[in-house]
Amino acid sequence: MNIKSVRGVHDILPAEAPLWQRLESAARRVFGAYGYREIRLPLFERTELFARGIGEVTDIVQKEMYTFADRTGESLTLRPEATASVLRAYIEHGLHVQPKPVKLYTMGPMFRYERPQAGRYRQFHQLDVEAIGEDHPAVDAEVIGMLVRFFAELGLADRLALHINSLGDGVCRPAYRERLVEYLRQHAARLCAECRDRTERNPLRVLDCKKPECRPVLDQAPSLLDFLCDPCADNFTRVRAYLDAMGIRYVVDRRLVRGFDYYVRTAFELLTTELGAQNAVAGGGRYDGLVALLGGPPDAATGFAIGMERVVLLLGGTTTPCPPAAFLIPLGDQALTRLLAVAQEVRERGVPIELGYGTRKLRAELERAHRLGVDHVVIVGETELGREEAIIREMKSGSQRTVRLASLGDELAALPERASSTGATALRSEGAAACEVGSAAVTSPEHP
Ligand code: HAM
Repeated sequence: MNIKSVRGVHDILPAEAPLWQRLESAARRVFGAYGYREIRLPLFERTELFARGIGEVTDIVQKEMYTFADRTGESLTLRPEATASVLRAYIEHGLHVQPKPVKLYTMGPMFRYERPQAGRYRQFHQLDVEAIGEDHPAVDAEVIGMLVRFFAELGLADRLALHINSLGDGVCRPAYRERLVEYLRQHAARLCAECRDRTERNPLRVLDCKKPECRPVLDQAPSLLDFLCDPCADNFTRVRAYLDAMGIRYVVDRRLVRGFDYYVRTAFELLTTELGAQNAVAGGGRYDGLVALLGGPPDAATGFAIGMERVVLLLGGTTTPCPPAAFLIPLGDQALTRLLAVAQEVRERGVPIELGYGTRKLRAELERAHRLGVDHVVIVGETELGREEAIIREMKSGSQRTVRLASLGDELAALPERASSTGATALRSEGAAACEVGSAAVTSPEHP
């Protein structure tokens, strides 16, 4: 029996990899322009980090973590998100002595035991950004501006809606929470079982329920925005004013809540209508108390994470590989020995070359060259070898010319420039990631 991949995980195949590279390089470019530097973090941490950081009563900690004991019996967890790990590293390495805000980004796989569906996986990837050590509302606006800029760079900004809300803080949220629980209990009969359960455990998350039967009650629920204390209300006004000044369009979404306990004040999501239930492409907000909760200084912080799979789904398309500059066809082992050395030399100069291994007939090799889509093949048989020559054949026209074997390397290295009027070659010169993006839709890794 073949061993298959685990449910909820997916492979990124070569046709899709250039899209991922595009996301990664856009992230490096955009985040770099705002002064963010990359941090690379381990995939697993002590379980306690997430239990404390994300919140004991959240769905993530209660139901979705991949937790295991290592051989010493220590409880470890595959990271379900990056924020707690970034802060752990920030505290552990004393990064807080650097000028604030300390601006960090990281990218890579996260793990959550969720029910897999299109756009939702058990191993998925995030681009995560954190600005630590500054509580000014302009940092929230600046971070949101960077998020929007990232999607503009990918040509997706017009297909997304930015929703923002304020979640209040330790001063005003408890009163709201009490009022909300009271309201939800009053209307419990018209809520689903999960909402009733959440009313007692994590009432703000009830607002997030997408079931149509719960909507009438939730639409009428009291809003946190009406309960904000003066400093939180002022803070939210200023965030909005900064966004307005930057020309960033947004919707104030009174029902926007987030799946983590750590947020205070600004919370935001970028939403799409194109991916069904998995409508959040990115989410984030301010989390001022978390650095201290994890044992660090009382540093304020704000940030977001982008779901890379969802962005790739929105971008769509698969890529076709760029053809190599030439396909070398040795006929026999002696010719192979010479052409292997030539290929080595030309590849060293950055020119992509494919090579036959001298075992197949010329016809079969030409067929392979055709399938690779190359413009030129080089043929060296016994006769050519004896004369220290090689034949360069142009595939389309079939025209051939003979060159000295000694200058074959230079001839091949000159091919891309010679053919640079053709689109394929121009793209090729930009590197593998720049090859044509076709129109076929990207296949979604798992539709159970
Ligand atoms: P989050 O909202 O849980 O936030 O995740 C951010 C994004 O990751 C989501 O908007 C979504 O696009 C993607 N995502 C989440 N779960 C899955 C999944 N199972 N499959 C595919 N994509 C998924 C956080 O993780 C926070 N740490 C963000 C943050 C950073 N807040 C402050 N700093």
